[in-house]
Amino acid sequence: MSIRLTVVTFSLDDAKSEKIDAAFRSFMQETNYWQGKVLLDYSLMMHKAWRPVLPMLPLAADISVLDVGTGYGLLIDELAANLSVALYGIDIDAKYIQGARALSETLAAQDIFESGSQIEFEVGDICSIPYPDSMFEFTMVREVFQFVDDIDKATEEIKRVTKPTGFVCVSDNDDGLFLSYPEPTEAFKKLHRAIEKEQSSYGGDRKVGRKISTILSNHGFEILAVNVIPEARHWKVTPQDPERFFLLEQLREAKERLVSSNALSSSEYDALLRQVESEPPSEQFRFNARVLVIGRKPR
Ligand SMILES: C[S@@+](CC[C@H](N)C(=O)[O-])C[C@H]1O[C@@H](n2cnc3c(N)ncnc32)[C@H](O)[C@@H]1O
Repeated sequence: MSIRLTVVTFSLDDAKSEKIDAAFRSFMQETNYWQGKVLLDYSLMMHKAWRPVLPMLPLAADISVLDVGTGYGLLIDELAANLSVALYGIDIDAKYIQGARALSETLAAQDIFESGSQIEFEVGDICSIPYPDSMFEFTMVREVFQFVDDIDKATEEIKRVTKPTGFVCVSDNDDGLFLSYPEPTEAFKKLHRAIEKEQSSYGGDRKVGRKISTILSNHGFEILAVNVIPEARHWKVTPQDPERFFLLEQLREAKERLVSSNALSSSEYDALLRQVESEPPSEQFRFNARVLVIGRKPR
């Protein structure tokens, strides 16, 4: 029997979305794990662009949904606040899973979850998902493929845990879809290119967005929809701007990896970082778009 696409039409409850944002922002203030701060800041911004898209996903009441690479579980909390579904989130980073559990408990105490919704978080790798075959009607993978070295293994794993005729949604960035004005400085571009090179040396791919539909098709999924989620903003960067602060922290943290992978020498890295640190704050226009693909597992 094939899973019917009885897509529930739902609109997000804005008051609940505000409570979710507030809980995540206050968690971001409290945590000392700076990688966690970066992820929370980034996820909140990206998720805003996703909110209008959520009601278009193949969701139905009482199904089981897996979110692979869930981070702090923002997507899961938003779905549980609006639908009665069983939600499972896994992430390779135990600190994120610990945070995701704490955040969903905070939100449960505010009584924002739909009755009948259920949430579970577990540590797990996309290449070895800790659930049995055919457990989920719908598997989500948002901004995880770009970090994965064995994309074929990861795709086989999401296929294994999805029910025959069930759905997957894979979405990711692609550096080719990024625009900004003013253009980043040469120093910033050089550091960014070095990070891209270093990331691809262990299999990560910052241009994976354009490849998702082909990857899924090669693994036997029927491609049902291909779309992009645009996100654009204009803001005044101040010296205290959290995005600038997190970016500098990420660049500082990358030094050891960049130097040991020979992407840059230590002195080249130091000179580039000094230039980026001394760039005066300015106004910024930023455009980014994520590719989103919905696939269906064969019978
Ligand atoms: C950019 S974040 C996206 C988080 C979340 N999906 C969201 O959309 O808010 C990438 C996440 O993928 C997780 N991740 C990276 N490699 C993974 C792997 N091999 N298996 C599971 N999770 C992984 C990271 O720990 C991180 O939480």
